[in-house]
Amino acid sequence: MSRSAHPAGPRHADVLTEGHYSAPPADLNVLDPKVWARTVTRDERGVATVGGLGVDALAEEFGTPAYFLDETDFRARCRAWAEAFGKDADVFYAGKAFLSRAIVRWLKEEGLNLDVCSGGELTTALSAGMPAERIAFHGNNKSEEEIRTAVEAGVGRIVLDSFQEIVRVAHIAQSLGKRQRVQIRVTVGVEAHTHEFIATAHEDQKFGIALAGGQAAEAVRRALKLDGLELIGIHSHIGSQIFDMAGFEVSARRVVQLLAEVRDEHGVELPEIDLGGGLGIAYTSEDDPREPHEIAKALSEIVTRECESAGLRTPRISVEPGRAIVGPTAFTLYRVGTVKPLEGLRTYVSVDGGMSDNIRTALYDAEYSVSLVSRTSDAEPMLSRVVGKHCESGDIVVRDAFLPADLGPGDLIAVPATGAYCRSMASNYNHALRPPVVAVRDGEARVIVRRETEEDLLRLDVG
Ligand SMILES: Cc1ncc(COP(=O)(O)O)c(C=O)c1O
Repeated sequence: MSRSAHPAGPRHADVLTEGHYSAPPADLNVLDPKVWARTVTRDERGVATVGGLGVDALAEEFGTPAYFLDETDFRARCRAWAEAFGKDADVFYAGKAFLSRAIVRWLKEEGLNLDVCSGGELTTALSAGMPAERIAFHGNNKSEEEIRTAVEAGVGRIVLDSFQEIVRVAHIAQSLGKRQRVQIRVTVGVEAHTHEFIATAHEDQKFGIALAGGQAAEAVRRALKLDGLELIGIHSHIGSQIFDMAGFEVSARRVVQLLAEVRDEHGVELPEIDLGGGLGIAYTSEDDPREPHEIAKALSEIVTRECESAGLRTPRISVEPGRAIVGPTAFTLYRVGTVKPLEGLRTYVSVDGGMSDNIRTALYDAEYSVSLVSRTSDAEPMLSRVVGKHCESGDIVVRDAFLPADLGPGDLIAVPATGAYCRSMASNYNHALRPPVVAVRDGEARVIVRRETEEDLLRLDVG
């Protein structure tokens, strides 16, 4: 396809009424290492590369849209988390962020555990050889079949999410002649997102059992009585894309308070606490995530301090980062199809994917950045909105971004930090074919999840 010149369209601050950017970045050609996977850079032609491979060649070989995942970066992040938390704590990668059999094998090799939240994720984990004792099973409404499969497989823990489930898991474990290790998920009245947290009144949600009103204490009472269960600890997950540790501080304090109550009432010191996931990543240059070692230090200090003041032995801590491990390691590569300047507003750039490969912008108003990656450009910045090809005006991939004004059909643009909750939340809306995930490492690229085909669609449609 040829690249056609067109009017630059509107510029910036005067028309920007919503969104993240108030001014264009100093140089649109720079690929900020904060938001791009570790091995991404530009070659001498100005083409972006990952793992040493140019995106032009990758697009040629694998097509667009496609997710490219930097395996070197993924493994390095796993190691950083494992090392930061050390031998006295456990890191469970949250599979909901993105799971495939290759991912499971890398996790296993890099020493991480895995949190799954459905029968499908459990099957994927087991089929790729993750030892069952390294798997935690979550979910607010696990089916009896899922519970049975998990217990039979011997998962390391099931996280109980309701009073009914306490009995259900105990019954199934007992019928299989097993004693299942479990944690109880509690809601601590904290909701945390990015830099803000609300420390009260977030019991109004479907997950967990509230500490408020003594419900969590009652859940512990019931779980301790059941022969089929071995209660090993308390679990709390407070939100997503969190940069500020204050929410974890409140959550840990409240969980430790429950541990102290359990000790006082039952004479039992529960040996583990899980503080969940939710640690933030940089989607744009303005985000400043914490490094795993800072997070590990902060969490361990908080828990140790709270336990000392309650006179408890410090329990083994576990965490469940998903986004913070896989999020930054992938980008979505799109080809530009049309470029439509709207006078006095912005320029709409349509790509060959959209809300079917990244629902987060439509769903959560998520912010992303985007760059022209098939070449560099000295053209002026153009206030743009990157949209997909679906029949829905909310089909927005990047709400507000600056792209060079000479952008045209045929150019490749890429959205970084799409490793988490993009392929895993992808849909077939408009019968779109879900894009492949291609792992790139040391000059080699290999498909780890293939692109869907029309035959795949028709195979499910039994007519
Ligand atoms: C219980 C639990 N653990 C871990 C996670 C992973 O969160 P994140 O990917 O933001 O780290 C989630 C996300 O919803 C969750 O519900």
